Amino acid sequence: MMRIDIISAVPDLLQSPLNHSIVKRAQDKGLVEIVVHNLHEYGFGQYRQIDDTPFGGGAGMVLMIEPIAACIRQLQAERTYDEIIYTAPDGKTFNQQTANALSLKKNIIILCGHYKGVDERVREMFVTQEISIGDYVLSGGELAAAIITDAVVRVLPNVLSDETSALSDSFQDNLLAPPVYTRPAEFEGLSVPDVLLSGNHAKIAQWRDEQSITRTQERRPDLLDLGFGA
Ligand code: ADE
Repeated sequence: MMRIDIISAVPDLLQSPLNHSIVKRAQDKGLVEIVVHNLHEYGFGQYRQIDDTPFGGGAGMVLMIEPIAACIRQLQAERTYDEIIYTAPDGKTFNQQTANALSLKKNIIILCGHYKGVDERVREMFVTQEISIGDYVLSGGELAAAIITDAVVRVLPNVLSDETSALSDSFQDNLLAPPVYTRPAEFEGLSVPDVLLSGNHAKIAQWRDEQSITRTQERRPDLLDLGFGA
């Protein structure tokens, strides 16, 4: 079973995303174990301090290396980790390929970034991959960690059924998914495409492929340059 340990200064931020829907079901089914660690438990003194002002001055607080080192080393004493990921806007941009690759690992740690960041020595000593979820700045890495975890868990074997297989997700073949419809067949003059009501599965499959390609050409031509199935 895959295990994901998430180290966070604001663990409550992770509770809802990890405890609903597909990610919850995957844990309930024993397909993944997700453990959130509160960095404050490794903090200093009465106030469980985990951050301090930056050397050289400047705004914002920086996460100290000692609490992080203590937490990571405790985990490493219990098992071997394949990756220690740090979430930060200056990391490599996350995509489906990275999610698929991470889903093949056994044990990973995700260290959530915080305010102005972590002491650079944490990255040097412990971190094996730095991941950004996009070119914008979040208040902390927790939402990024939740997004990475969700994307990884949904591609784990047996998390989705054959019907809902992640293989038909957008991006798995560098194509966007086709449009979908449900009842009613007509709403205020807008009809569902006839082919979807035809019962002709070969035709439906062909229509969906065409729609995928057209959509990708219109919305994300950059994906087509990567090639189908690349
Ligand atoms: N922390 C703050 N902004 C982030 C981003 N864009 N991706 C990952 N972690 C972050």
